[in-house]
Amino acid sequence: MSGGHAHRSAPADGGRERVDWLRREIERHNYRYYVLDDPEVSDAEFDELMRELETLEAAHPEWVTPDSPTQRVGGAPAEGFDPVRHRRPMLSLANGFDADEIRDFDRRVRERLARETGDPERVAAAVTYMAEPKLDGLAISLIYQDGRLVQAATRGDGETGEDVTANLRTVRSIPLHLGDRFTAEAPRVLEVRGEVFMRRSDFQRLNRGLEADGLRGFMNPRNAAAGSLRQLDSRVTARRPLSFFAYAVGYVEGGRLPDTQSGTLDWLRGLGFPVCPEREVLEGVENCLAYYRRLAERRPELDYEIDGLVYKVDDLAAQQLLGDVSRAPRWAIAHKFPAEERTTTLRDVEFSVGRTGALTPVARLEPVLVGGVMVSNATLHNMDEIARKDVRIGDRVIVRRAGDVIPEVVGRAGGERPPKNRVIEMPARCPECGSHVERPEGEVVARCTGGLVCPAQRREALKHFVSRRAMDIEGFGEKLIEQLVEGDRVHTPAELFALDRETLEGLERVGPKLARNLLDSLEASRTTTLGRFIFALGIREVGEVTARNLAAYFGDLDALMQADAETLQAVPDVGPIVAEHIANFFAEPHNREVIRALREAGIHWPVPERDAVGDAAANAPLEGNTYVLTGSFEDMTREEARAALEARGAKVTGSVSGRTTAVIAGVDPGSKVVKAESLGVPVLGPDELNTLLGRAG
Ligand code: IVH
Repeated sequence: MSGGHAHRSAPADGGRERVDWLRREIERHNYRYYVLDDPEVSDAEFDELMRELETLEAAHPEWVTPDSPTQRVGGAPAEGFDPVRHRRPMLSLANGFDADEIRDFDRRVRERLARETGDPERVAAAVTYMAEPKLDGLAISLIYQDGRLVQAATRGDGETGEDVTANLRTVRSIPLHLGDRFTAEAPRVLEVRGEVFMRRSDFQRLNRGLEADGLRGFMNPRNAAAGSLRQLDSRVTARRPLSFFAYAVGYVEGGRLPDTQSGTLDWLRGLGFPVCPEREVLEGVENCLAYYRRLAERRPELDYEIDGLVYKVDDLAAQQLLGDVSRAPRWAIAHKFPAEERTTTLRDVEFSVGRTGALTPVARLEPVLVGGVMVSNATLHNMDEIARKDVRIGDRVIVRRAGDVIPEVVGRAGGERPPKNRVIEMPARCPECGSHVERPEGEVVARCTGGLVCPAQRREALKHFVSRRAMDIEGFGEKLIEQLVEGDRVHTPAELFALDRETLEGLERVGPKLARNLLDSLEASRTTTLGRFIFALGIREVGEVTARNLAAYFGDLDALMQADAETLQAVPDVGPIVAEHIANFFAEPHNREVIRALREAGIHWPVPERDAVGDAAANAPLEGNTYVLTGSFEDMTREEARAALEARGAKVTGSVSGRTTAVIAGVDPGSKVVKAESLGVPVLGPDELNTLLGRAG
């Protein structure tokens, strides 16, 4: 039922059936109100149904279910948010800032599609895109099992988010169950992804209310939405006017799905999800650009804030062929609106010291509202930039904020410069530790030479070490790390593992319970992956992807530590400069000592390691084989599967060809399976993958 045809005859008052009927009626009216924008009853009539249901549930508490509309008022405060591992990673989007960047994107799409399908004519064929606004809210994932909302999570870092089910149940426009609209063809498990946001009108009303109560209002709708979503007390969330638009389907089990992006959104709308009414299907890139001009003009009149548009290849099979690159799909791009700029006074410049000792000039500004956010600090990047922009302390400067990036000083505003304005100079000594600052010839960045003597470098290195994508040691927030460093309790990452209960309880705002949790998370983090460990070391220029490549290539840490710069360059992503940083890092006795201490503290990674020497068959049983992974796997991410295969000598590529040994398909595989079948390439499943990896199935 799509909300059109109405009430079946209402069951008699007071019984269990009446309760079920009331719930369906209420959900149906919600759907008509929030999704179709076409209510059938007045607010008063709606309230009456709600009250009747509340009364019945109060008389029969055993009838209350978590997905009853009465539960949208929220429940008792939670202690924290549990982590949720996304079954498929939640990706981010590449950005384009002008028409040429969008045309480049479109060209890459056409060229790649031609290559992937082996049909050179596709380079010239226009691609159909689905375009819609890029909402300035928060991405969330909703899991429905047999049509019932069972879990809602934030995006987090894309791999792991936070469980906010109790909070999202209170959002009126999110269906709690898909009810009659959920047909037999629908998937057993359905993950719907979309954006939670606050409408401008709701935001203004909320702020007026807060201010009338003597409370401080929120800066902008995005902060209001984020603040409301991450409430431990879901009753607070329930009182906040949050909205939701669905924009994609994530993980699915069973059922049949539409084969286009636009078809998916229509289907979701039919299931009861609000979707953005501004979405359009467009032929070719020039139509996307025309859509951009239309939307830019209409932007002020929309009741929600958008920071750009998103263009997605409409054909889902084509999306599969295009695949992803470094956490973003190749089949989509965000076309950003120009960032907002404002003029203010540069009061002073201070230098902040980063993890690698780099000194970054930070502008202290006369506070100014930029795009709804009060900005009082902005980055000046480095001394060359300062020289190029010719800014001095006391100048009027232009400040820009683009989306959620750090605000920056773009340059000097026009007008006369008072002669008293001071030239900005790089300090000779580190503001944090007093060590000598050096700027090697030809380098843009000046660095503190204090190394781990410098509290700022220690602090930043530790923050990086414990961070989610690195060792993921929960509970060690910024404040705690600062205390540990300032109190001289921890100097190296290894010393974290020597912390005991007493030391922790001696810290500010750490009670026995937190201390125990901290010790538990240290314990849990002792088992990790080699990739995470390498990333956590904080080697210059070694990001997550490079770290994983290193782990996959070398398979064990000792081999990596002994590798010279030349060997290192054989690793994908590693050029001469990065290779040198890596080799230098491991040549440094202090670093070797920290690594030794970390291993002694029990840090280990269970993936079977390759011996440094030994026979190839034992160490690289899959040498010479080439695999393609598609779909998602239950007990590991695709990246992990790739690393594990590569660690055993296999090659893993993105596209199927006659040379492919086999395609390994997880849940919800893409068109690669079709291609494999057409080429006669074997298709293996998750169990066979485990066998290949030498794991018990
Ligand atoms: S699609 C793989 N569509 O943008 C593509 N994202 O940078 C996944 N966002 O965190 C996203 N509006 O929160 C998509 N219409 C839209 C969007 C949208 C806002 C956000 C989303 C995500 C970020 C990606």
